Amino acid sequence: MLKSGIKELIQQKIIKNMNQIQDRLPHAAGKDGIFDDTKPSWWTSGFWPGILWTLYDWTGEDGYKSKAEKCNQKLEQYFLHHPNEFDHDVGFQFLLSSVYRFELTGDEESKRLGLMAANFLAGRFNPQGNFIKSWDRAPGWVIVDCLMNLSLLFWASRVSEDPRFKHIAIRHADTFLQHGVRGDGSTCHILSFDADTGEFIEALGGQGFAPDSSWSRGNAWAIYGFSNMYRYTGDHKYLDAAKKIAHQFITSLPDDDVPYWDHRVECLGLEPRDSSAAAIAASGLMEIADHVPANEKRIYLAAANKILQSLSENYATWNIPEHQGILLHGTGNKPKGNFIDVSLIYGDYFFIEAIAKLDGRNRHIF
Ligand code: GLY
Repeated sequence: MLKSGIKELIQQKIIKNMNQIQDRLPHAAGKDGIFDDTKPSWWTSGFWPGILWTLYDWTGEDGYKSKAEKCNQKLEQYFLHHPNEFDHDVGFQFLLSSVYRFELTGDEESKRLGLMAANFLAGRFNPQGNFIKSWDRAPGWVIVDCLMNLSLLFWASRVSEDPRFKHIAIRHADTFLQHGVRGDGSTCHILSFDADTGEFIEALGGQGFAPDSSWSRGNAWAIYGFSNMYRYTGDHKYLDAAKKIAHQFITSLPDDDVPYWDHRVECLGLEPRDSSAAAIAASGLMEIADHVPANEKRIYLAAANKILQSLSENYATWNIPEHQGILLHGTGNKPKGNFIDVSLIYGDYFFIEAIAKLDGRNRHIF
């Protein structure tokens, strides 16, 4: 059973944060509990407006909307003036800002900006290798996180009635499924291709421990991303992949149901957890539960509930009112030594999203 009054606890935290954070675009909060401010081009810039839009949708209170609009404007203006600073993560950024606003209010300018972002993402497609490049500095690299960004392309196909976007998304997902999901349901972070010939070269560890390890947040992106692929296409191979990755994730969890940053690091007990991976996976498991028969639903809903309960009881800052983050103990990039044991804005976003889903509110923004 989740803590009663959890919706109110979330609201209290976010209302307090709104006055302090305003239209800053945070990424992480360390021991002092104060969120930093990032450039609008950084991949996490959509999560704070995404939290505000979710709260607006969930409660109907206008205060969230006006703050979210200010954040949207900041992100959108930056994109219009500095498009070359952005990468494949325009999916995360614009789904949670312009697209969310359009879906909730019908604002035509937001639709136009969401479509600009979708065109930008589609323009990164490599037709020789059938993948969307993640970063400009490595035009043959594809990262697991991009599976989440594909939702922007499906949205664009729907609202523009132009199927090109979704065809790109499907080709990219198939490439990742072929090379990035192992037989045991674990996934790698980076796939490296020859950008000219399109040939697959190798898997790389990236933010995971090693090329053959199992980066827990990457697994969580894949659970959620492939479940979405099933929702958008009805093709069972994606649902099967999501389930396989989910089974690997669930069976790798330690006693408190919140994973270490990588499921396959030596001496696990000494390693940091990643609460953000737990929150993302919980929301993705609920997505799987929506698509399986009743006798399977229980597996995914029970796992999601256990994770959310542990996050709320053991990782949340309900008793630290001055802390701006909701979830403690997130790990950003362990191999680089960045953002370890901190609150991560995307962990908070997916935690709120999952709790809103439990409460019956699901806009399917991803
Ligand atoms: N998209 C980068 C990450 O999950 O850290």
